[in-house]
Amino acid sequence: MSLLEKIRVTQAFLESKGIEKPEFGLILGSGLGELAEEVQDAIVIDYADIPNWGQSTVVGHAGKLVYGTLSGRKVLALQGRFHFYEGNPLEVVTFPVRVMKALGCEGVIVTNAAGGIGFGPGTLMTITDHINMTGQNPLIGENLDDFGPRFPDMSKAYTPEYRATAHEVAKKLGIKLDEGVYIGVTGPTYETPAEIRAYKTLGADAVGMSTVPEVIVAAHSGLKVLGISCITNHAAGFQEELNHEEVVEVTERIKGDFKGLLKAILAEL
Ligand code: HPA
Repeated sequence: MSLLEKIRVTQAFLESKGIEKPEFGLILGSGLGELAEEVQDAIVIDYADIPNWGQSTVVGHAGKLVYGTLSGRKVLALQGRFHFYEGNPLEVVTFPVRVMKALGCEGVIVTNAAGGIGFGPGTLMTITDHINMTGQNPLIGENLDDFGPRFPDMSKAYTPEYRATAHEVAKKLGIKLDEGVYIGVTGPTYETPAEIRAYKTLGADAVGMSTVPEVIVAAHSGLKVLGISCITNHAAGFQEELNHEEVVEVTERIKGDFKGLLKAILAEL
């Protein structure tokens, strides 16, 4: 089956389950999936039951699709994403974004846990732009002309108006929200201190193992994007050592602010 046929099959499956014209897709990163529990009139589907869908293997990723109303908006929330480092082809990693577009979403909110290059643990950061350090691109291969052009523009991949709304809302709520450039790597190793020094020179403020492929596919198809990073640790070289437990722990600590912020942003987008 071609990629386009797979998208249509999955779209038809989800529509047959009652999922109709979501306005926004939410991709909830490590430990951030709890927000989906607040979705009202929810239709919940296990990833394992969705045709052509990948499987989540990482701690903190529940592996459920949740559709319903959040802050008065129709959302399609993903509790857990697929990473390239799990061995998923980029077609699988970015498939949910294709399906969000096919179902009629206007925009996606992409969230992640990231290491701070300058920013410290607990910081929430809107992504202004990214650097693709993965050496990969999900659009390599036949272009899906129904979705977008062969050579898509990436100059405003992170929609400036969404970001402006996010900052206005954060200010109103009294939540500190920074902004910066996200550099996307494949993982699964954390970076070396030398790599982080190099990324700092390149202009990166945060580093992580997701988001970039999904945002490339979103931008290709004209989906608007809001990217939010939860900085869970100082990147390598700025602290003793890195581990996934710390990432989960810090996410636990800031997820109250994160959830409040996202709900308030959704109401205003
Ligand atoms: N590096 C890469 N990915 C991450 C990090 C990090 O320091 N923290 C959370 N995700």
